[in-house]
Amino acid sequence: MLEQRKPSAFDLASYLQDKKELVEIALDGSLPIVRPEKIYEAMRYSLLAGGKRLRPILCLATCELLGGTEEMSMPTACALEMIHTMSLIHDDLPAMDNDDYRRGKLTNHKVFGEDIAILAGDGLLAYAFEFVATQTQNVAPQNIIEVIARLGRTVGAAGLVGGQVLDLESEGKTDITAETLTFIHTHKTGALLETSVVSGAILAGAGSEEVQKLSQYAQNIGLAFQIIDDILDITATQEELGKTAGKDLAAQKATYPSLWGIEESRNQAQQLIDSAIDKLADYGEKAAPLRAIAQYIVNRKH
Ligand code: FPP
Ligand code: MG
Repeated sequence: MLEQRKPSAFDLASYLQDKKELVEIALDGSLPIVRPEKIYEAMRYSLLAGGKRLRPILCLATCELLGGTEEMSMPTACALEMIHTMSLIHDDLPAMDNDDYRRGKLTNHKVFGEDIAILAGDGLLAYAFEFVATQTQNVAPQNIIEVIARLGRTVGAAGLVGGQVLDLESEGKTDITAETLTFIHTHKTGALLETSVVSGAILAGAGSEEVQKLSQYAQNIGLAFQIIDDILDITATQEELGKTAGKDLAAQKATYPSLWGIEESRNQAQQLIDSAIDKLADYGEKAAPLRAIAQYIVNRKH
């Protein structure tokens, strides 16, 4: 008699590895070096410095979940990483967090100087929009426009820029409330993670109800991601993080662990992940990657 085989558990490590390789190839091909070489080298230095590539993978996975293809989502996946990378280049500048290390390498301004680092960030931001507009295939134009509009809102004062401003204003203050902290994080980090998922859905042709549900999944994992980031800043080493550890305490930043303690912060992150996973109930086995990514966010070590 043939042995009955149970469906094997989803192998997230292989999934992330496979998708990351595809993203690395696409990013490498996205930005050739032309004249003036220095700016392209600076842009490529940070764009190709590794990293988890979580945002592109969320976009690819969501598009795939809804029946879309890689050629529909890869240009947006690359654009999300260009935007994320530019925000880190600017975040590390002396005028902001003044950091020397990122992704295990010297920060962009340490290698290329502040002037070029600012321009490399600007170049990546502008190119992200050009890349989505010119490279996306097999997607209805109105859906491409919707993705571009959402990307714009995500990086602007309603998103990353707004979150960063409140973050800078909150430094050194001892009376930051959980509500302000959540505003900072939903804007500075959550907005781009949410747009990563939602853009994947829009590119696959999702309707507004579906977009809404997946957006709630993404908001939950976005906040959990930041809570875990705050915990890792305390518990992980510079080698594990690829960037300076213990910075939040040194900069007297309000964090979730400083408000709630590490144990309670971890509980809150797990609750958010459980709610995120609940939102995927209708998709069955097909949503295994998004479920596993959600769980990975709380278990990650860097
Ligand atoms: C890292 O946070 C920084 C961000 C997630 C984004 C910062 C946003 C900006 C600099 C605005 C960029 C401009 C545009 C136009 C998008 P962190 O300092 O808490 O984390 P870290 O320890 O990784 O530095
Ligand atoms: Mg920083």
